[in-house]
Amino acid sequence: MKRPQVIKRAAQMQALALRAKRAGRKIALVPTMGYLHAGHLALVKKAAQYGDIVVVSIFVNPTQFGPKEDLSSYPRDFQGDSQKLASVGTDYIYFPDVREMYPEHYQTYITVEKLSQGLCGASRPIHFRGVATVVAKLFNIVQPEVAVFGEKDYQQLQVITRMVKDLNMPIKIIGLPTVREKDGLAMSSRNKYLSPEDRGRAVNLSRALFAARKMVAQGEKRTKVIIAKARQTLASDPDARIEYVEIRDAQTLEPVAVINRPSRMLLAVWKGKTRLIDNIGLGPKK
Ligand code: PAJ
Repeated sequence: MKRPQVIKRAAQMQALALRAKRAGRKIALVPTMGYLHAGHLALVKKAAQYGDIVVVSIFVNPTQFGPKEDLSSYPRDFQGDSQKLASVGTDYIYFPDVREMYPEHYQTYITVEKLSQGLCGASRPIHFRGVATVVAKLFNIVQPEVAVFGEKDYQQLQVITRMVKDLNMPIKIIGLPTVREKDGLAMSSRNKYLSPEDRGRAVNLSRALFAARKMVAQGEKRTKVIIAKARQTLASDPDARIEYVEIRDAQTLEPVAVINRPSRMLLAVWKGKTRLIDNIGLGPKK
């Protein structure tokens, strides 16, 4: 078990990355906010298949949290994270502090326009601007050839894929399927906020998605009908508050009425103060 080396300074990380690149070594990056679980570790294992050097960043990025969101209570466990990362083979943990990423007078942001609106962007208007900005900074600092993200945050994956294309960044973006608990709940650092009762009923999210996939496989193509059924499943939990249930084009995230191309069902549900998201592919694959 090799202990990853922890780097806190951007200049040090960047110098090291540029040296490695010049020596012909490929860097693979997995950006995270820490409090790692098996979903994150699956991304790291994938990164190891692509890169000679695996860098995992851990940074709870303040610019992607709204003023009333859970920035200060976001769970953190650096010791636990670094042990987990050692067990899956990580070369470097890039672990900057907020001042390093956003020094005084910081004022540059990246907006991926259409993809950042709607779905999670409707209730979190600055979220994807913060995500795109920090990921672009991480790309400049870590200089990866490959970066691995989870489909768990599907809109985020599309935003980043678009940003990389639009800004001609020479980076391959890889998206990996969501890793789930045994009962189907998508793994998330935020699941720890759930009471045992809420945790039990949170299985409704994945249940609704899998039922939708089954409906499509059985021939139902009308998104209205599929969404209504999913809403019904979610509403069987009286404490759940549905934020959205949508079916969108898998790439553009534009609404679709009939499933005749690669599509994605996405949903966000509040359980008490905890917001859970999940999604699934529907219809033809790419
Ligand atoms: P975080 O929520 O820590 O997630 C880091 C990466 O892990 C993301 O690509 C996310 O999609 C992926 N991930 C989370 N849960 C997963 C699961 N159950 N299965 C597979 N992958 C999963 O997403 C962020 O951090 C931040 O927005 C970040 C990209 C780091 C920018 O700050």
